[in-house]
Amino acid sequence: MTTKIGDTQEDLLRAATLLKEGELVAFPTETVYGLGGNALDPNAAKKIYAVKGRPSDNPLIVHLSTWEEVFSVAYPNEQAKALYDAFCPGPLTMILKKLPIVPDETTGGRGTVAVRFPRHPMARKLIALAGVPIAAPSANVSKHVSPTTAWHVYVDLNGRIPLVLDGGTCDVGIESTIVDLTGDEPVVLRPGAITAERIKEVLGKADYFQGEVKEALAPGMKYKHYSPKVPCYLVRRDSLESAYRKIRSQGKNVGVIASEKSARRFPSGISIGSSAKEAQHAIYGALREAERYDAVIVEDLSDKKEFFAAMDRIKKATGGNVL
Ligand code: TXA
Ligand code: MG
Repeated sequence: MTTKIGDTQEDLLRAATLLKEGELVAFPTETVYGLGGNALDPNAAKKIYAVKGRPSDNPLIVHLSTWEEVFSVAYPNEQAKALYDAFCPGPLTMILKKLPIVPDETTGGRGTVAVRFPRHPMARKLIALAGVPIAAPSANVSKHVSPTTAWHVYVDLNGRIPLVLDGGTCDVGIESTIVDLTGDEPVVLRPGAITAERIKEVLGKADYFQGEVKEALAPGMKYKHYSPKVPCYLVRRDSLESAYRKIRSQGKNVGVIASEKSARRFPSGISIGSSAKEAQHAIYGALREAERYDAVIVEDLSDKKEFFAAMDRIKKATGGNVL
């Protein structure tokens, strides 16, 4: 199969037709690119797992373009409507009780479904034109870094899908915040651009999930994720130089992903900016760029609370490797 990258109205119409026919299409959202299929078609969901090489117990997020569409897949509660009014369309995913029409293949056999209303105009147009809810995980090969450009998708999925819609570089840059609204209290399962604090302002309560990752929670949390293809280490700011020299002394080229100020100190520095927003926007592109080195070290930014979501992804990329 040849994979086309396109951004015209014609490409958008073709994408909608492909989705209606049960095929897969990659498309931009404001967080990361998604690998979309008809959420109500069990075979389309199966294709998504096959193309990504993803374990099928890790359920998919269902993308919708309007609030009304939620009633076709889930039982929304008052909290869901309040969060919708505050943050949607935008980088927030809500776990709700599902309607029977959503197949087990989409939800990994759960009684719940993850719904999200992306704000990228191309995503919204695509969902509206397809006329069906779109199940979409990030459009990377399983365990690789999530894609934030059409080219990232192409590198991972060339030959496996017919079409990648190109909507530019993703604005937010890391995946949506996931909040579970099916329990007694709202729980943030995956941190993102919308913080638990902001959700709490709307609902009066909300906390980050803490403790061991169990089956019932965001199953993606239990997998090592988002890793570049070269060894990747987390390094404290004051140890960057020594870690860099240590790896260089083994005859290896090492990339340094760091805040703007720190990155400047290294010839192979890859800056992810100076604010949390910039770091979220740049981190996945930086992790992919760093794959041209033999190894990569990433500055630990966890001394600043606002870097929590970016650090969550950095910790997953470094997978506990500390230097
Ligand atoms: O920003 C995003 O959310 C992107 C774009 C494409 O929308 N999508 C995305 O999908 O990140 P994915 O598949 O990479 O991550 C989905 C996460 C997984 O950790 C999965 O376990 C969790 O959502 N999830 C999905 N359905 C769930 C459910 N019913 N209960 C708990 N967690 C669920
Ligand atoms: Mg993913």
